Amino acid sequence: MKTTINSGSIGWESPSNIALIKYWGKKGNQLPCNPSISMSLKNSLSRTLLHYEPKTKENALRFLFEGKRQVLFEQRICKFFESLSDQFNFLNDYQFSISSENTFPHSAGIASSASAMSSLALCLCSMEEEISGKQLSSDDFYKKASLVARLGSGSASRSVYGGFVAWGESPSFSKSSDEYAASFSQYIHPVFQDFQDAILLVSSKQKEVSSSVGHELMKNHPYAMARFSQANVHFERMLGVLRSGDLNDFIQIMENEALSLHGLMMNSTPSYTLLEPNTLELIERIRSFRSSNNIPVGFTLDAGPNIHLMYPKSVGEKVLPFIESQLSHFLEDGRFIMDEKGDGPRKIKI
Ligand code: PMV
Repeated sequence: MKTTINSGSIGWESPSNIALIKYWGKKGNQLPCNPSISMSLKNSLSRTLLHYEPKTKENALRFLFEGKRQVLFEQRICKFFESLSDQFNFLNDYQFSISSENTFPHSAGIASSASAMSSLALCLCSMEEEISGKQLSSDDFYKKASLVARLGSGSASRSVYGGFVAWGESPSFSKSSDEYAASFSQYIHPVFQDFQDAILLVSSKQKEVSSSVGHELMKNHPYAMARFSQANVHFERMLGVLRSGDLNDFIQIMENEALSLHGLMMNSTPSYTLLEPNTLELIERIRSFRSSNNIPVGFTLDAGPNIHLMYPKSVGEKVLPFIESQLSHFLEDGRFIMDEKGDGPRKIKI
């Protein structure tokens, strides 16, 4: 593509997402070993501003997180940009000043790479439009942003859309692809339209084993094949549940996915455990609250000890007092964050 070199500033705000069907294990160039589905959040966002201008120096990228220079993340972004030469052949002609901030507290156990990488990918796609003077169709724009985000962090591919989002090829969803995510929002049962996620903070300690190491350990995992076929079955069932509104099935599949993920970690070689004793205490309490009160509330977990408590808004009035009276003393400083299904990224007017 012929480009006119100039300068400009772009901003995007993009959400974190919570996976209901987990992506765990990758192949090739950041492709998933199984399809996954997530719900994009509303309040847990990254806001990224990207300023670009013609390159005049070798050290061409500066990254500030919440106002402070972050050398480690800066190096990660440099590598990410180098890996994008096929997608954006102009990157090497520019220098960048990038600043990012999160609306959620640091180390709150909310995966920030999904929101950070998706907001950055969206900035790059907008930059391409600005410098080339050509606009992609909305479909192609988000498809490209999802593909680029995926190269930064797999789960980030799902954050470029709002609502429920699928990533990874499956015969049960015709729009699905390993390369990019697709929104699964054509028909979603009303019970999921205002779904809530209360993030219960068990520990904000930095995790000892990163997700990239975890994905890598799936390569020699004795249960890898069984896991990938389980995820395919769960994926198909979850699509059905999102349409039918069957909350019992929803909870059963979602909780099984969370515990399978952590089971895989505990069964890896070397083995590791990210769950904390309080995570298990909370799980027991959630199960017993659900069965004694017949309230459709369930949990899921990311790659960490914190619980995402998921429920329809209609039972929120019963769930909140339950969190406050029965769960909060097992949480770090009693902290939890209220979030819910969100509408996806938004371009920031600068
Ligand atoms: O996107 P990554 O490489 O950080 O992996 C994320 C993996 C999980 O969060 C555990 C599951 C998922 O599908 O988001």
